[in-house]
Amino acid sequence: MDGTKQLFSTMTTNSKMRYFLVFFTLCIPLSILVYTSKLSGKNIPRSDNQTTLAETCKAIVEGKRFFVQENLLKTSFGKSNCSYYMTQSHYITKSLSQEEASFPLAYTITLHKEFDTFERLFRAIYMPQNIYCIHVDKKAPEKYKKKVAQLLACFPNAFLASQSELVVYAGISRLQADLNCMKDLVKSAVPWKYLLNMCGQDFPLKTNKEIIQHLKKFKGKNIADGVLPPPHIIKRTKYIYREQMFGIFSFILPTLLWKPPPPHGLTIYFGPAYVALTRKFADFILQDQRSLDLLEWSKDTYSPDEHFWVTMNRIPGVPGSMPNATWEGGLRAIKWSDAEANHGGCHGHYVRSICIFGTGDLKWLLSNKNLFANKFELKTYPPTVECLELNLRERALNQSEIPVEPSWYL
Ligand SMILES: *[C@@H]1O[C@H](CO)[C@@H](O)[C@H](O)[C@H]1NC(C)=O
Ligand SMILES: *[C@@H]1O[C@H](CO)[C@@H](O)[C@H](O)[C@H]1NC(C)=O
Ligand SMILES: *[C@@H]1O[C@H](CO)[C@@H](O)[C@H](O)[C@H]1NC(C)=O
Ligand SMILES: *[C@@H]1O[C@H](CO)[C@@H](O)[C@H](O)[C@H]1NC(C)=O
Repeated sequence: MDGTKQLFSTMTTNSKMRYFLVFFTLCIPLSILVYTSKLSGKNIPRSDNQTTLAETCKAIVEGKRFFVQENLLKTSFGKSNCSYYMTQSHYITKSLSQEEASFPLAYTITLHKEFDTFERLFRAIYMPQNIYCIHVDKKAPEKYKKKVAQLLACFPNAFLASQSELVVYAGISRLQADLNCMKDLVKSAVPWKYLLNMCGQDFPLKTNKEIIQHLKKFKGKNIADGVLPPPHIIKRTKYIYREQMFGIFSFILPTLLWKPPPPHGLTIYFGPAYVALTRKFADFILQDQRSLDLLEWSKDTYSPDEHFWVTMNRIPGVPGSMPNATWEGGLRAIKWSDAEANHGGCHGHYVRSICIFGTGDLKWLLSNKNLFANKFELKTYPPTVECLELNLRERALNQSEIPVEPSWYL
């Protein structure tokens, strides 16, 4: 990752000087415009499509009638070369503040479908100081893998996982995919502070700056919260479950065989599969004997990613651990089908008990405090994704401490 190293070092050591010089040579008119508009609440220029979209979003949130068009925020994927793609698709190409430049994040994203949704997610979380490891499921079609590789080739700080798994829903392979990326990321020269794991159908609700401000509140602790497994969850680690694969058809087969107790007398906890992990914890997880043995023991359990991180994070003395952590992470907004009393129902549709957000969920998403939400489908409910995109980008540019480049407006 030489490119990344170079990218980052120029950004940290010389960034102030560079911005200073750029300011006085090229950007004076632009900066004056930006700074004067900042004083007046910062006008964000909008194209016709964005104005239409912003009006549609407003109507949706206010529960008024609206007309759904096809996608209004097009990208230019596959049309030309990388520099054209990055500017025409409005990627942010500089760190927006010193605070962000000095707090890089590492992302792992596991994918198997929905390229367009992933592209929007990637554009929304992309920042040049961060680093991105993308895991594409081994069973994804060759054409899909090529498309992802072609996209990532445009970014010096994004790469495909060096090893890919055939991911079985609720199987160990899902956890292994994150671990494969983690192995690649601990070797990176980018001095990332937290690793965040995502799937291709997540979407951020907060800007990069807001994300790091949330993470900083944890003062170098991991966010991998959870509790002792409730009664209906205990069977997941009490009995043996086996990954079954028949070509592209795969599932987890429960058996009536009991598992031996966990290694090293560990107490198994249960929590979300989505976590934020410090670099020291990542180094530790990949080497510590308890961690390696727990991983081995977990290979025939159900949904091991929902016990592995939290169980390790509960061990006193482990780097960044929180032996008392319960449910305060604030990482994911998910509408589970069995929790309608809490979230008021799904306005899209449920897939495997998780809501694919419809336009009617937009209001709930916009006022949600979590960093990310799961799950989205761009082609089924385009305005849900696009309204979040527009809202988030306008907020990010509004928060920028450097002059905003015209190509960054969606
Ligand atoms: C504006 O929206 C139309 C229709 O939804 C689309 O065809 C067009 O490409 C969009 N323009 C831009 C610049 O994204
Ligand atoms: C990239 O493509 C654009 C438009 O297709 C073209 O104007 C530009 O010169 C190309 N840049 C490079 C470096 O090839
Ligand atoms: C965390 O747990 C330990 C051991 O059970 C206990 O002594 C300590 O008071 C707890 N701390 C908090 C903040 O709850
Ligand atoms: C931009 O920031 C200003 C000042 O913090 C705030 O009043 C305004 O609402 C923000 N605008 C957007 C679009 O976030």
